[in-house]
Amino acid sequence: MKVAIFASGSGSNFEAIVQGVQRGDLALEIVLLFCDQPDAYVIERAKKLNIPVKAFSPKEFSDRGTYEAEIIRILASCEVEFIVLAGYMRLIGAGLLGAYPQKIINIHPSLLPAFPGLHGIRDAFEAGVSKTGVTIHYIDEGIDTGPIIAQEEVTILPEDDLATLEKRIHQVEHRLYVEVLKKL
Ligand code: GRF
Repeated sequence: MKVAIFASGSGSNFEAIVQGVQRGDLALEIVLLFCDQPDAYVIERAKKLNIPVKAFSPKEFSDRGTYEAEIIRILASCEVEFIVLAGYMRLIGAGLLGAYPQKIINIHPSLLPAFPGLHGIRDAFEAGVSKTGVTIHYIDEGIDTGPIIAQEEVTILPEDDLATLEKRIHQVEHRLYVEVLKKL
């Protein structure tokens, strides 16, 4: 299956998935990294891993519809069948959802529906809960809503600070995303 990964930032999840493919754990073809932040570090990772990149900002377009229409045109030209969001910090609009119904998944660093939004790890840590985790879900038009595919708990330890918690959550993310993609 031909897959595109969308990312906006560091790209550690992107790299974990590509390494899963390169190890032979995942029978996928990552045909494209799409990035909405042309100076994001994920682009460097993609170059090192020999994954083709398209990067442009929605600011270059008059509205979300024309921005997504251009993305859809590029995806079609690469025959992309499935989209994996890996730290893509933007809502998916009706255009992409219509072009890829039930074919876009996302990873979020909390046990949804708890702590949606941009700061899932920090919000859980500051709330003082004893456990948080990772959720992988299908995308719909909401913010971190959509049917849940898999969740894994991460205990918040008394000695944790935000950095140690973030590190453990990212480790779970990298493993869980590969496991889920394998099953899908
Ligand atoms: C991850 O924590 C992911 O759950 C969230 O954004 C972060 C992306 O990290 N959606 P990275 O760019 O994959 O390192």
